[in-house]
Amino acid sequence: MENLIAQIKQLKEEKNAVILAHYYVEDEVQDIADYIGDSFYLSKVATTTDADIIVFCGVSFMGESAKILNPEKTVLMPDATADCPMAHMAEIDRIEALRKEYPDLAVVCYINSTAELKCHSDVCVTSSNAMKIVKKLPNKNIFFIPDQNLGHYISEQVPDKNFILNDGYCHVHASIRVNQVEAAKRKYPEALFLVHPECPAPILEMADFIGSTSEIIDYATESPAQEFIVGTELGVLHDLKLKNPGKKFYSAGAVQCCPNMKKISLEKLLHVLQTGENEVHLSDEFRQRAQAPLTRMLELAK
Ligand code: 13P
Ligand code: SF4
Repeated sequence: MENLIAQIKQLKEEKNAVILAHYYVEDEVQDIADYIGDSFYLSKVATTTDADIIVFCGVSFMGESAKILNPEKTVLMPDATADCPMAHMAEIDRIEALRKEYPDLAVVCYINSTAELKCHSDVCVTSSNAMKIVKKLPNKNIFFIPDQNLGHYISEQVPDKNFILNDGYCHVHASIRVNQVEAAKRKYPEALFLVHPECPAPILEMADFIGSTSEIIDYATESPAQEFIVGTELGVLHDLKLKNPGKKFYSAGAVQCCPNMKKISLEKLLHVLQTGENEVHLSDEFRQRAQAPLTRMLELAK
């Protein structure tokens, strides 16, 4: 592994590449990244880097977003099959039908979505800025795609808008069960329950804190509490433990593991640096259409 790491570091220098990683990838991949963060942070980093090559250790929509925001850069994906199933869970026909039904409709698209869905949307959001952005929109009617759980959570925080919810969901967060959380709370009665808003409403109702992956990590780091039950993908445990060596973190359930994020390995990272394989390509026309809602997100999130 040390040899692998040395080769990656050397090639990264030679090729002026930067490595971005999401908190859900394997620990050793997080350790070699230049930037690690939540979806919003990583999309901002992608717009400011002066590297020639971005290697995105995450799923397809993350690499696509980096390319859309940064067309002149080369964006490489260590595993081209690492894809988020939820990113596909909305229908263009439904968007078009709802636009006819509600002339003032804003299509608010979670960044966990394909570039194609972004092309049909008015603004993108991430879990850390969705509330702020939706509140700033002049539109009364909001169609939130693709995640029904994040959409429902935001709709409750912004009651003056009319939300139309979609039926997409993240299978990792949807797999956390109320009875598992109850059991964890019984076992660790002092622990605070930290939850990602991709979890279903009954889980969010049990939370002490709801936020994006970065917000969960920041909250636990700043909290005087010493024990936490984690209601998101367990890749966050790596950074939580590094930043909080004295605190204890527990799983909220059995399978909080995103199989697509876990496809990224050091071997695959080295391979794409060596070969330039798995480059993200988007046509100019397609990229420009998908860029508009992402740029609007970056503006409204300021
Ligand atoms: P955040 O890091 O923005 O909280 O996103 C969670 C997620 O599911 C990414 O796939
Ligand atoms: Fe998609 Fe869920 Fe995996 Fe995130 S954790 S990439 S939302 S399947």
